[in-house]
Amino acid sequence: MKRSFIREILESIDSETISFAGGLPDEKLFPIEALKKASEKAFENPQNLQYTVSNGIPSLREKIADFYNKEGFETKASNILITTGSQQGLFIIAKYFQNRKIIVEEPSYLGAVNVFRMNGLEMRSVPLAYDGIETGPFEELYSHIKLAYLIPDFQNPKGSLYSSEKRLEVAKSVLKHGGYIIEDAPYSELYFDQKMPSISSLIPDNSLHLGSFSKTLSPSLRIGWIRANEEMIKMLTTIKETIDLHSCGISQYILDHYLEDASSYENHLAALRSAYKAKMHIFTKALQENLKEFQFETPKGGMFVFGSLPGVDTFALVQKCLKEKVVYVPANQFYLDKPISDEIRFNFTYTSPDEVEEGLQRIKKALMA
Ligand SMILES: Cc1ncc(COP(=O)(O)O)c(C=O)c1O
Repeated sequence: MKRSFIREILESIDSETISFAGGLPDEKLFPIEALKKASEKAFENPQNLQYTVSNGIPSLREKIADFYNKEGFETKASNILITTGSQQGLFIIAKYFQNRKIIVEEPSYLGAVNVFRMNGLEMRSVPLAYDGIETGPFEELYSHIKLAYLIPDFQNPKGSLYSSEKRLEVAKSVLKHGGYIIEDAPYSELYFDQKMPSISSLIPDNSLHLGSFSKTLSPSLRIGWIRANEEMIKMLTTIKETIDLHSCGISQYILDHYLEDASSYENHLAALRSAYKAKMHIFTKALQENLKEFQFETPKGGMFVFGSLPGVDTFALVQKCLKEKVVYVPANQFYLDKPISDEIRFNFTYTSPDEVEEGLQRIKKALMA
């Protein structure tokens, strides 16, 4: 099993290195004052520092259920399991489905691939286009595998967004053959134009929908969730209990107080979307000016620009880039079996406009060396 390149890089780079590598939110956009106020309230009650229930505090589960209800996707608190980030959600789900076969997109999120591998899941990949998974090969494999891991909104690493047609096609395959999709949705709220309905909303009983506050509020809180049918939630809760008894209680209470004012979260999300949209435009413009060779699709949301430098081994290039004090993720990391790739994933949310300009010039220098 390979360690995550991104986590290794995060451990090894110094403060002078410009990083386009991690899926990091912009720290300037954390709603610090509102979270401070929520924390003060959370610390007022000593019971909030006590052990708590494994499935998550009821009032936070209700608020999360309401996110779905507002979009017309009927959900009760009993459909929600709070997890320690969606990464733990993936681990719990993989434990439940251990030693099964599973369809994954190609390329896919390395953090999930590693979890599946560790739990003995045998992965079969289906190519991912910018408008979603190739539905022909998906249907063929799904008819007997009956389990798939998909990231329909602003995928990590590809930034792709499933079209309505492909969402329907996938839902149809699931209804026809039974089984489950695991829909990982940490970037869904970071749309630039409009939100697409989840695939899970079309197949409520046959889906495990993963959400997270990591990309919208703060990854340090380590709070995510799984939305699934009640029976499934009960079984997943039993697994979670064996891992950590419950997710951090005080983080849950802080979030619960923060979300008491629903409009404040909505306003925060709106500000985040427009700030990230502006950052994306700055990044793609800088790419066109400084790294003309890079071919990419303009993202419609999320945190990543994905594309290729035709003919360049981007893993070899990143070693040169590290010497120039700039880093990105070479895309061979996101494929099950592709040692050499000419593709790159850039994160555009973390760096400032000056760093973007400087970082891309450093990459250009490494490319010319
Ligand atoms: C697709 C995807 N799923 C899950 C995660 C894990 O997020 P967290 O555990 O912080 O909620 C990430 C993090 O980058 C991700 O990109």
